[in-house]
Amino acid sequence: MIRKARIGDIKQMQALINGFARQDIMLARSLNELYENIRDFWVKADKGKVIGCAALHISWDNLAEIKSVAVAQKFHKKGIGKELIAACLDEALQLGIKKVFMLTYKPKYFKRFGFKKIAHSSLPHKIWAECIHCPKFPDCKETALLKIL
Ligand SMILES: CC(C)(COP(=O)(O)OP(=O)(O)OC[C@H]1O[C@@H](n2cnc3c(N)ncnc32)[C@H](O)[C@@H]1OP(=O)(O)O)[C@@H](O)C(=O)NCCC(=O)NCCS
Repeated sequence: MIRKARIGDIKQMQALINGFARQDIMLARSLNELYENIRDFWVKADKGKVIGCAALHISWDNLAEIKSVAVAQKFHKKGIGKELIAACLDEALQLGIKKVFMLTYKPKYFKRFGFKKIAHSSLPHKIWAECIHCPKFPDCKETALLKIL
């Protein structure tokens, strides 16, 4: 079952995300960021343990971002990533948001869900204002992808 995140999930979500961040394959998240944005997050739990998460973050009028998609290594290739993306896209539709973007090191994986490569510069300035706080700025190797719902 994919469900919305709860307060008690946060530390496990951080361990999952930051484990991959240490391998340099996604961005680390602080506890503060996770607590403040908990309502963005979907999780997949197994026997009370968080084994996957993904967030839908509203950016602007008619625009949201999918962030922090992570599935524990042991549970890869079972369709959990797909379920988490579907939950985020369904939520965007329910909110009346028609454009969803991502910044990712894995464009090939996400293109199968209908995301298409776009120029970073086509995203609103507001998003780039947030990038200044990223430790990787300005040498961002992430690909920008957009899906129109
Ligand atoms: C990217 C990531 C979230 C994908 O999660 P996942 O749960 O393994 O994703 P899925 O199961 O939906 O799909 C993965 C693969 O398994 C395949 N698959 C899905 N269900 C399957 C099943 N029942 N049997 C066999 N293969 C299956 C998919 O077709 C897909 O094939 P691929 O090898 O061509 O990619 C995961 O690899 C991850 O957490 N990576 C580290 C963090 C990361 O890079 N996050 C992206 C943010 S930039």
